[in-house]
Amino acid sequence: MNSIDTSKLRAAIPFFKDLDQGLLEQLVPYMREESYRKGSIIFHEGDEGNQIFFIRSGMVSIYTSNKAKRITLAYLTKGEYFGEMALMQPGLTRSATAETLTAVKAYTLHRADFQRLVEKERNVPFLLLNYTMERLRKANNQIYDLTFLNVQNRIIRRLLELGKEVGTMREDGSYVIPVKITHQQLADTVGAARETVSKIIIDLQDKELVDLSNKKLTLLKPEILTEMLNI
Ligand code: CMP
Repeated sequence: MNSIDTSKLRAAIPFFKDLDQGLLEQLVPYMREESYRKGSIIFHEGDEGNQIFFIRSGMVSIYTSNKAKRITLAYLTKGEYFGEMALMQPGLTRSATAETLTAVKAYTLHRADFQRLVEKERNVPFLLLNYTMERLRKANNQIYDLTFLNVQNRIIRRLLELGKEVGTMREDGSYVIPVKITHQQLADTVGAARETVSKIIIDLQDKELVDLSNKKLTLLKPEILTEMLNI
């Protein structure tokens, strides 16, 4: 038996927020709490998958790659989950790699326990569908950006999204993103070469629109960045 507190679980992970208390109590003994260091691979694309992960704290990068290149599909953070796709049918493998960008704590659940939950609680398929639709919307935006935007605008759009999703707004209207991010990581999120991204970031720094000193990103003038997008 473990000691996961159901009220803490509800507070940390929106997926569990409205679940029946009796069902949650039955489920909790089957959940585990895992900790990962920064830079750990939780699983690789193509691996067999038997677990779903609910992020308690920290940030995870989801990416797909070939030998030469990598494209980041999403940065997932506190309260979100991943690894459900390979659980939907036996024989499916991981559709992407999951790597920690910070130290991460996660609750995990095995395939059979997750499937029991999907079958027993009639709200769960709707929760999954909602989240999947949200991801599809973001994936469509990513396809749009890769097809129609130049690299500078792709970077600006990504920076603004990061600011909105994980940043904290300061009194002067700037956004601080509390995770260290390298030019290479940024390049992987917009499908561009690191050198190109570095040039654009230096230019945005010279114009005092962003600051990326110590690999910590601050959007100094988000409203001007938004105007520059002009889309
Ligand atoms: P799975 O295929 O089991 O392992 C990789 C996980 O990454 C996948 O389940 C989803 O949880 C997640 N994932 C895959 N594609 C995306 C995407 N485009 N956006 C966000 N998360 C994704």
